[in-house]
Amino acid sequence: MSYFEDNRDRYLEELKAFLRIPSISTLSEHAADIRRASEFVRAGLEKAGLERAELIEGDGNPLVYGQWLGAPGKPTVLFYGHYDVQPPDPLEEWTSPPFEPELRGEDIFARGASDDKGQLWILVKAVEGLLATRGSLPVNVRFLIEGEEETGGEHIEAFVASGDPRTKADAAVICDTEMFAPNLPTICVGLRGIVYGELHVRGAEQDLHSGVYGGVAPNPLNAIAEILTALKDRDGHIRIPGFCDKVRPPTAEELEAWKRLPFDEEEYRKKEVRVSELVGEPEYSPLERVWARPTLDCHGITGGFTGEGAKTVIPARATAKISTRLVADQDPEEAEAQLVAAIRAAAPRGVSVEWKTIHRAAPSLVDTGDPFVRAAARALEETFGKPTVFIRSGGSIPIVGVFDQHLRIPSVLMGFGLPDDNLHAPNEKFHLPNFYRGIQAVARYLEVLGG
Ligand code: BES
Ligand code: ZN
Repeated sequence: MSYFEDNRDRYLEELKAFLRIPSISTLSEHAADIRRASEFVRAGLEKAGLERAELIEGDGNPLVYGQWLGAPGKPTVLFYGHYDVQPPDPLEEWTSPPFEPELRGEDIFARGASDDKGQLWILVKAVEGLLATRGSLPVNVRFLIEGEEETGGEHIEAFVASGDPRTKADAAVICDTEMFAPNLPTICVGLRGIVYGELHVRGAEQDLHSGVYGGVAPNPLNAIAEILTALKDRDGHIRIPGFCDKVRPPTAEELEAWKRLPFDEEEYRKKEVRVSELVGEPEYSPLERVWARPTLDCHGITGGFTGEGAKTVIPARATAKISTRLVADQDPEEAEAQLVAAIRAAAPRGVSVEWKTIHRAAPSLVDTGDPFVRAAARALEETFGKPTVFIRSGGSIPIVGVFDQHLRIPSVLMGFGLPDDNLHAPNEKFHLPNFYRGIQAVARYLEVLGG
């Protein structure tokens, strides 16, 4: 496949141009960058030789669509990716600026390098290369790329739920996950779901002097602390009635396979998580804790006085951003109702609490015996020269549950990120050998599927 090798420099230049667009979906001041990134992807699809490369406008950021349907009788694959990225802060911790891609060794550093611009570009280049060298594709292909994955993906969900014919496919293929270790071809067969929301707590009508009224006035910040500690015990067990009832334990086979993965807990603790101690439910292994157990975390608390020095105040209000990650077979709406009920029950006297949902996504599990998964394992094996491992991941990709629910199709998660890619963190990177190999693996996959 020398075409793919001959074009590496061009692939890299294109990726850099894509990475220079700060398409941060959660910050409204980047709306113009979101649009530029959507147009960049659309043009890329058109240049790759796809038909009908177009933007789909709706409520939210544009979706990008393209298709090639010239293989009657062959399966149709739906490629998904996202062109939006997370905010880059804290900026001072980046070695090079987040939106000026920099090559260091075999890595490219920029926000979105791995999640998901580099991986999305793999899909585009694989199809482009096949069309350029063979003039056709072995199977039918659709692209559906979104620009609000990092904020919950409402637009694409509505589009898929609408039954639009552009979503008709036999399987989805997504490069937005990680390999378990460098050079270890990996398919992710399980993702966690999520419920993310804001907890608004109100105490007195106005801020109060903490000396004059301390002892009688309810304190919304203290209330948040009380609620959080009531919801999860010191060993990491979630104390929400009924919450874990539907958690499906991994099968004995799956647990066996996880034990065979090259995983060293000490190294994981020291080099990857970089903590003095791993926490969480002691009766489960670390992989089980991140792949097969729900979480409850607070991401930020605002309220009261955070300026320099001391101010003796009992704030009138406080807000906490809270999420829970869900695993199969938990239902996001049911889990959220249980969470909110537990928050109300744990709220101390004198405060009122209000929960505002930000987004929800269902957990997902794909059958490792599915023919589309098997074919992907084979293509990866051929490309990397090693057997493919099946893992799960603790992260969420909301569309996977949506495809499952509305299209009844499996999602093949063949990711090329690495555990040290710094997703959502400073110094995000993508390992370029994985970029190039990913392109070949996806091209090979389409050939395997074409038979
Ligand atoms: N690509 C990630 C999810 C991911 C990361 C899966 C690593 C497997 C391994 C995705 O872009 C992401 O971060 N999703 C968000 C979704 C949320 C905002 C609904 C997440 O998991 O926080
Ligand atoms: Zn992603």
